[in-house]
Amino acid sequence: MSVQGKSRVVTTHVLQTMKDRGERISMLTGYDYSMASLLDQAGVDVILVGDSAANVVAGFQSTLPITLNQMIYHASSVVRAVKRALVVVDMPFGTYQGDSHQALQSAIRIMKESGADAIKLEGGKEVVESVRRILSAGIPVMGHLGLTPQSINRFGTYVVRATEEEEADRLVDDAQLLEAEGCFAIVLEKIPAKLGQEVARKLRIPIIGIGAGGGVDGQVLVTHDMLGITQEFSPRFLRRYAALGEEMLQAFQHYIDDVKRGDFPNEREQY
Ligand code: KIV
Repeated sequence: MSVQGKSRVVTTHVLQTMKDRGERISMLTGYDYSMASLLDQAGVDVILVGDSAANVVAGFQSTLPITLNQMIYHASSVVRAVKRALVVVDMPFGTYQGDSHQALQSAIRIMKESGADAIKLEGGKEVVESVRRILSAGIPVMGHLGLTPQSINRFGTYVVRATEEEEADRLVDDAQLLEAEGCFAIVLEKIPAKLGQEVARKLRIPIIGIGAGGGVDGQVLVTHDMLGITQEFSPRFLRRYAALGEEMLQAFQHYIDDVKRGDFPNEREQY
């Protein structure tokens, strides 16, 4: 039940049933009302209000600068549009690491002020206190392991994670820990397909991949990337389903042309 008082159709329980039945889960990011409405009409299972908004909406180089208030603004815009999909909101950098009390307060603000269904946060063992405390308040938590963009300054590179045995073992341990704590799902980002499949097989909860191969329980992409609105970002895992960037450019140029030529508005477009 959201703060708007409407139950959405896809719940964390539904996602678990989908995994149990071997039905794949679709997830895409959404940051605003209009896009979220289209995503929901299309029937996507989960809409992630990702902190990738910092990149694709605000133009920052990393996800670090986005604030809790900004995430709540994006999330509440999405929630107003969505009738069916589960809405999950990223907890932004600096609102949950190191202090589980602050983590709970941040998660409560997201749930109360946006009406979202769940939160997502990055990390394993190092954030387990925060995960536990948020869960204790009845807030569903989605984990995120592998290439965790909020740690980009520690990684120093966006290359594939967990290619070495030690990091792969740690990732499996972290995934099992998050499941044992009560997370309802985990995102695995940019890791070898074999490892993604191993985690999905070992864990009962749904594993959603982005660059984690086809052996996981569902897939997520950043909507602006899969629509071809962002043009310079081209990792191997990204499939573009449209070239909207080019179409938008042409539409803008066409409009400018029409205005300059005095062709817009025409007789039927004025009062
Ligand atoms: O912020 C985001 O868009 C994400 C996805 C890449 C999973 O976390």
